[in-house]
Amino acid sequence: MSNHLYISADAGEMSRVAADFFMETAKKAVAGRGRFVVSLSGGSTPEALFRLLAGPPWSQQIDWPKVHVFWGDERCVPPDSPDSNSRMARLALLDQAPVPESQVYPIDGTLPPEAAAALYDIQLREFFDWSAPVFDLVLLGLGDDGHTASLFPHTPVLTEKKRWAKEVLVEKLNSWRVTLTAPVITAATCIAFLAAGEKKAGVLKEVLVGPYRPEELPAQLVARSGAEVHWFLDEKAAGKMEDVNKIK
Ligand code: 6PG
Repeated sequence: MSNHLYISADAGEMSRVAADFFMETAKKAVAGRGRFVVSLSGGSTPEALFRLLAGPPWSQQIDWPKVHVFWGDERCVPPDSPDSNSRMARLALLDQAPVPESQVYPIDGTLPPEAAAALYDIQLREFFDWSAPVFDLVLLGLGDDGHTASLFPHTPVLTEKKRWAKEVLVEKLNSWRVTLTAPVITAATCIAFLAAGEKKAGVLKEVLVGPYRPEELPAQLVARSGAEVHWFLDEKAAGKMEDVNKIK
């Protein structure tokens, strides 16, 4: 079974369970490989998780100087924009956690989207010594429309197989973004989605047990890839998952 579900009573408990998982995954990576390479998600859901990780008991048990931080996607906005995923992570976590700045790799939202994506692509390849991009953990969210990272429905990036990072125009949001591509996400040792609230219940069920239609539900590119995928949910988001055992 490649999808593991952890259903919590509410979003607060979900964040605490996810913080424990993040901490244990970090410990395992540092013990095994001397570093923890993580890709953070954006949006609103992970902020509570990041705030927990910045404080006790989790913060003291993570070897922050051995952590390397990337992002799964970024909006093409300045780093001080309220829409910036890296800004949210810095305020909630990175301004408190002693990760060396040289080990934090934000996507440059001030560049033209194509240039920002090309630069991030090269940074990733150089970091992984031009071999496979194996993150220890990729954190993801789930959009109401079935997107994850910035893999949005009916966008060309969904079939991108060569690039590790690519620009994408999200027409309905009139917004340019840069995203990790599906092959990079699914190459990760461990992938963790966080989804809370009843607005996610329908799309979650479709992504996990509905017909395979990744053009409409890009999160299926990850959930149905066979990679190890963990889902941190509250009861509302899991509200339509009648039979969890049917999930592959
Ligand atoms: C972004 C995220 C995006 C997010 C989902 C869920 O840049 O917005 O990367 O993929 O994870 O849209 O967002 P919420 O957590 O706000 O529901």
